[in-house]
Amino acid sequence: MSLTLETIVSLAKRRGFVFQSSEIYGGLNGCWDYGPLGVELLNNIKREWWQAMTFREDIEGIDAAILMHPKVWEASGHVANFTDPMVDCKECKARFRADQLEDAMCGNPAYKGRKAIKCQQEGKFTEPRQFNLMFKTFIGPVEEDAAVVYLRPETAQGIFVNFLNVLNSSRQKIPFGIAQIGKAFRNEINTKNFLFRTREFEQMEMQYFVRPGEDMKWFEYWKEERMKWFIELGLNKDKLRFSPHPEDKLAHYARAAVDIEYEFPFGWGEIEGIHNRTNFDLTQHTEYSGKALDYYDDETKEKYIPYIIETSAGASRSFMTFLIDAYHEEEVRGEKRVVLKLHPKLAPIKVGIFPLVNRDGMPEIARKITEDLRKDFRVFYDDKGAVGRRYRRQDEVGTPYCVTVDSQTLEDQTVTIRERDSMEQIRIHMDKISEFLKEKLNQ
Ligand code: GAP
Repeated sequence: MSLTLETIVSLAKRRGFVFQSSEIYGGLNGCWDYGPLGVELLNNIKREWWQAMTFREDIEGIDAAILMHPKVWEASGHVANFTDPMVDCKECKARFRADQLEDAMCGNPAYKGRKAIKCQQEGKFTEPRQFNLMFKTFIGPVEEDAAVVYLRPETAQGIFVNFLNVLNSSRQKIPFGIAQIGKAFRNEINTKNFLFRTREFEQMEMQYFVRPGEDMKWFEYWKEERMKWFIELGLNKDKLRFSPHPEDKLAHYARAAVDIEYEFPFGWGEIEGIHNRTNFDLTQHTEYSGKALDYYDDETKEKYIPYIIETSAGASRSFMTFLIDAYHEEEVRGEKRVVLKLHPKLAPIKVGIFPLVNRDGMPEIARKITEDLRKDFRVFYDDKGAVGRRYRRQDEVGTPYCVTVDSQTLEDQTVTIRERDSMEQIRIHMDKISEFLKEKLNQ
């Protein structure tokens, strides 16, 4: 099966995972809305990440404001350096990232199917100009320079500027980390590939503060931990790889950097970056704020500016990755079965409940089971159509288990439980369903 992104985008819309933002107005480029099943999947991914981070003794969580003091972005280097080179087509006025012309298509309907690089070769483009990716807005009613603020382009800065607050309030000692999940905004010149590059997205970032000299040890540690997280949540190992940044391509603040990449239908792409940011961030914020952001080690009596190891994943990009990786098409008794083999922890619905037929008291029993299970799980009651079709509807959204009430239930109170991937069915007593699911779903 060669999977296309169109298949995923279409399933996502049809089954309520992701919709185009403001669709009834023709959509807004680079922005997407999560539907009823999408928000569950996204929340499950974020919860798994949050637990992997903050259920440890050495990591605290925060939730910083999206709007920050404008000097933060001067100190971080974003005002001066967070730019992409942009070119305009003099003929059709389309805009392109000058460093990504190989992938781009000409926007002019008169040249349908033509590569943008060809237009460049023919001299249709302006010289590249640097374009800052931060969205600007204003505090207060007056649009003057003094009131300019930015929508944060990464969550990391909210962590750096709170380093002392967290240190002093939590009584952590180095090494320790601060984790945050939140929205980030980038005015990308070209958005593309569904949720891969959007203008509004969510990040899951953790900054780990360490003693200088121990930074490379922790860099290696976090690199492995983060890869393990994706694999344990079910991503296919063969579609994941580390992609280290060559030394001459490192960001100005980094001593080492590696991306975790996934093989998407459109090629390999980054899903998370792990960076050794040295003491750059805390040094810069010390200089720009005038507040010393250093650490005093009681035991060794040393004072130093900590080094930072960053793990930076896109929640939205991870969402798309889990969705694509889970998608399978199989042939079952001559028919196509679409199944999302999502890890049960990520599945938006944990169990479907079906009465085999809508009579003989079966719906009443199935309703009662539904209400009982609802206390612990996200369940879906379905009495519409043939039971085979109901299974298929749940397979397509990744529901790991389906319970069916049939005529035997009326005699001995047993039900069938069908497992999504193997499609195997077992019979158990209806009083034991909750216990069974708790064990299987590790809940
Ligand atoms: N604090 C470091 C930082 O923000 P980044 O490589 O620019 O590093 C980290 O971003 C992650 O955020 C990426 O690996 C990706 O998953 C996600 N990300 C970045 N830009 C994105 C965009 N325009 N749309 C969706 N996700 C994006």
